[in-house]
Amino acid sequence: MHAPGIFRTASGAAHRPPLRFLTCGSVDDGKSTLIGRLLHEQNLIHDDHREALGRDSKRHGTTGGEMDYALLLDGLEAEREQGITIDVAYRYFATARRSFIVADTPGHEQYTRNMATGASNADLAVLLVDARKGLLSQTKRHALIASLLGIRHVVLAVNKIDLVDFDQTVFEQIAISFNFFAADLGFKDIAAIPISARHGDNISTVSVNTAWYSGPSLLAHLEGVNVDDDRLSKPFRMPVQWVNRANLDFRGFAGTIASGAVTRGDEVAVVPSGRTTKVVSIIGPGGEVGSAEAGDSVTLTLADEVDIARGDMLAAVRDRPAAGDQFAAHLFWMSNEKLLPGRSYLLKIGHRTVSATITELKHRLDIDTLAKLAAKTLSVNEIGLCNLSTASAVAFDPYAENRDTGAFILIDRNTHETVAAGTVDFALRRASNVHRQSQTISRDARSGLMRHKPAVLWFTGLSGSGKSTIANLVEAGLHSRRVHTLMLDGDNVRHGLNRDLGFTEPDRVENIRRVGEVAKLMTDAGLVVLCSFISPFEAERSMVRDLIGADEFIEVFVDTPLEQCIARDPKGLYRRALAGEIKNFTGVDQTYEAPEHPELHLQTVSSDAATLAERVIEDLVRRGII
Ligand code: ADX
Repeated sequence: MHAPGIFRTASGAAHRPPLRFLTCGSVDDGKSTLIGRLLHEQNLIHDDHREALGRDSKRHGTTGGEMDYALLLDGLEAEREQGITIDVAYRYFATARRSFIVADTPGHEQYTRNMATGASNADLAVLLVDARKGLLSQTKRHALIASLLGIRHVVLAVNKIDLVDFDQTVFEQIAISFNFFAADLGFKDIAAIPISARHGDNISTVSVNTAWYSGPSLLAHLEGVNVDDDRLSKPFRMPVQWVNRANLDFRGFAGTIASGAVTRGDEVAVVPSGRTTKVVSIIGPGGEVGSAEAGDSVTLTLADEVDIARGDMLAAVRDRPAAGDQFAAHLFWMSNEKLLPGRSYLLKIGHRTVSATITELKHRLDIDTLAKLAAKTLSVNEIGLCNLSTASAVAFDPYAENRDTGAFILIDRNTHETVAAGTVDFALRRASNVHRQSQTISRDARSGLMRHKPAVLWFTGLSGSGKSTIANLVEAGLHSRRVHTLMLDGDNVRHGLNRDLGFTEPDRVENIRRVGEVAKLMTDAGLVVLCSFISPFEAERSMVRDLIGADEFIEVFVDTPLEQCIARDPKGLYRRALAGEIKNFTGVDQTYEAPEHPELHLQTVSSDAATLAERVIEDLVRRGII
């Protein structure tokens, strides 16, 4: 990728903040050519670079030896070989009237993720359309993402107008259908411009070939468009990035101010705790300052010894962000693994990371019609509105009010892949009339009546692996030692508590979530709980581990090779599954994710059930539970 420095900055760029824009379009719509052309016409390319471009155009270009402006941007060798752009690249350039930061984002469907990244801090989107192809789903998708990510200014660049003989009707039809599509997307202005990136029509000067077009050239529009950056006028927000304890007497809170300003002496609130205090000093990179504003990285010292950790937010006392554990949000799903309501993901908002689940998927948006469709899941590149619930309260603003404090990502607990980007729509106050009741008899007091500690023995393994057999022997052994136990078994629970659940992925997630909650209640009662469930997914097992607490959760992997389970087939289910009569059967047409670090790994092929049960009991003794 080229360093930003390769472009000359024209002298005298007006002293206003740069216009941040992004270009988006499908693969061959000509994005890179457009930006290359813009830079070239402004003479913003160094001569040595121009020479290299001439050489490259002959070698890689698609323009038959003419200058291929796309090569200016497709800087990565790999991209040139593939002929596509694969990441977000930021370019800086300036004219006499304005400076610009442009995010060049790829057109391939699977790169919506990059588009979302580029759009999240842009003021304007240039949507490229090929005049010959008209409005495609991809452009609509990009317009929708731009709208959801808070972009309010759009240029519809109808490119390759030369290839439709500069036909006014073609242009107007595309412009009209886009305006119709975008009517409810909340854009403040949409400028449709007929252009030829290749030949330069209406790029930096108005073209004689489109005499019927009375608007400005693309560059003139970009130079003139008014996009007030209102981060400064918003209430003060600073997500705490780290707590600086330089010495015993110094405790400072460091971070970048997301919006608003702060002045020495200001009263600030700590969110979500709600405590308030005063700003004693503000330390910037060059030393102490009287005040600081959005975009500044500072360390604040405060008047009181309030409890503040990384991930908390410091905010204006009279205009605080929401603090809550339930909110509605739009999600852009980016993973090849589908969204599973009920599954526990990690949610990162500002500098805070918490466990979160999607409690309800309200609808999915149809990209072409913007219709709200009923949906049970989201697949890669789909967008939906859902309710989320976090394990503890977090600070946030609705995205429409604050793009910095209203955006978050969801992360897969095991692979650490970012599975979705989200924007908060509004806080849900549903739970505000439900409070936790304090109890007279504590968990410890209940447990104290028994001569052992509570624990969960979580048996996981394939159907027919021997989980229930071993768990039964363990329970009998514990019972004879006067240990108070409870057995929760997949087959049995599915006849009662979970009789409404089947074996699809979402149902298995919910099965384990409920069982986890019940097991938790039973440990509160002081029992040793034996859970015997296939529990095929690592994410849910680790969720239950977090819920119960690592010192009371013992994962027992009952490891029997699939062939062995098929050979045993105690209930005849494998035979039916292999014949296609039962769908979603673990090991046959659904995966089993074997535990990587179970507390106990029992191999049933080399030992008998009684020996293995004895090992489990010995382990409980060793851990001091019984
Ligand atoms: S889990 O995957 O959601 O943890 P659970 O342990 O509750 O499964 O239930 C598994 C039991 O249901 C199996 O032992 C088997 O007897 C029965 N069963 C019926 N259909 C299926 C299926 N499609 N996949 C796995 N088990 C099934």
